[in-house]
Amino acid sequence: MLTEQICKIRQCHHDNLMARHFDPAYFASLSPAQQKRLQQIILTGIENPDSIMGAYAMHPEDYDLFQPYLDKMIRDYHNIKGELKQVSDWGSDERFDLRNIDPVLANSSMRVRVGRNLADFPLPGAMSKKDRLAFEKRMVGVFSGLVDSPDFGGRYLSLTPDSPYQISEEQYQQLVDEHKMFKDMSADPYLSAAGISSDWPYGRGMYESTDGQLIVWVGEEDHLRIMTMKRGALLNDIFARLRISLDAIERQGLVFARSATYGYVTSCPTNLGTGMRASLHLELPKLTKNGTTLEGLKQLTKTLGLSVRGAGGEHTEAGAGGLVDLSPSGRLQITEEEICRCLYEGIVALREIEQRS
Ligand code: ARG
Repeated sequence: MLTEQICKIRQCHHDNLMARHFDPAYFASLSPAQQKRLQQIILTGIENPDSIMGAYAMHPEDYDLFQPYLDKMIRDYHNIKGELKQVSDWGSDERFDLRNIDPVLANSSMRVRVGRNLADFPLPGAMSKKDRLAFEKRMVGVFSGLVDSPDFGGRYLSLTPDSPYQISEEQYQQLVDEHKMFKDMSADPYLSAAGISSDWPYGRGMYESTDGQLIVWVGEEDHLRIMTMKRGALLNDIFARLRISLDAIERQGLVFARSATYGYVTSCPTNLGTGMRASLHLELPKLTKNGTTLEGLKQLTKTLGLSVRGAGGEHTEAGAGGLVDLSPSGRLQITEEEICRCLYEGIVALREIEQRS
């Protein structure tokens, strides 16, 4: 039944990697309990045949337990052949100053986030309501350490009904509009099928530092999405700040789930490795024909190892003046430093092509 359903999806949805790499013989070789576990992992890709990945891990160990299958999907998505080993390296003090490219880039909008999960909780898709509340409570303790430190300060805001940190619906909406807080996840069919948005909005919230440069999402697709954002010219600076923030958070006694092969464990196999997405907003009026299309630009950025989307987020077109959001596509088998360099060099190349166009 399951096998037939997946084979049907494979015929019509060639990009669904869950279906592409599903092997009925491997599935049959698993114990009934393991089959049940695997089914929960791939349910999102069965219920949403248009998925590009079609799976979310439910426990950090899933990547080892179901490696014969998940590894094929991971390698296919991340385009990895041969040995796979994730090494973390944030690099030295090299400066990547956007003003060296053009003084007009002095006030660029830069943002870097990483996904992190705690080793001692199930991943979000398998959390019970009790887990979600216990996890949030743990994080409130961590954030109070940051709030008390002069380097961070700030506050924690919760969506959990009756939490002492609870914010109003209006406050929440305003944070979403400001791109600081995540949207109502229960509206996302991929996350919902995986159980990741269950018990919404319990155990969900965000921390924001006094200067607004550090934001931590609690209880979205990963336990934590930790991000630094800033307007400026020093790309390396925002990476360094993220690293310092991560160290400060870990020092509060958290252990992040890691895999020897895949690096930081994330719910979605697309984010494994660094768990990092670094982005910059750039105006490319000629290459976007003033925002009419991103299609041509997508081909071009691909050759530079970058992904492009509208400045308004996923599935949006370019904004006024041809404003787009650029980010290195690589997450796995790449270091944090290489991601920074890829973004910088990509901007150099794109600005050159834009000026010649
Ligand atoms: N689960 C969705 C899919 O397989 C999203 C994948 C990438 N996006 C993400 N937010 N993890 O198509």
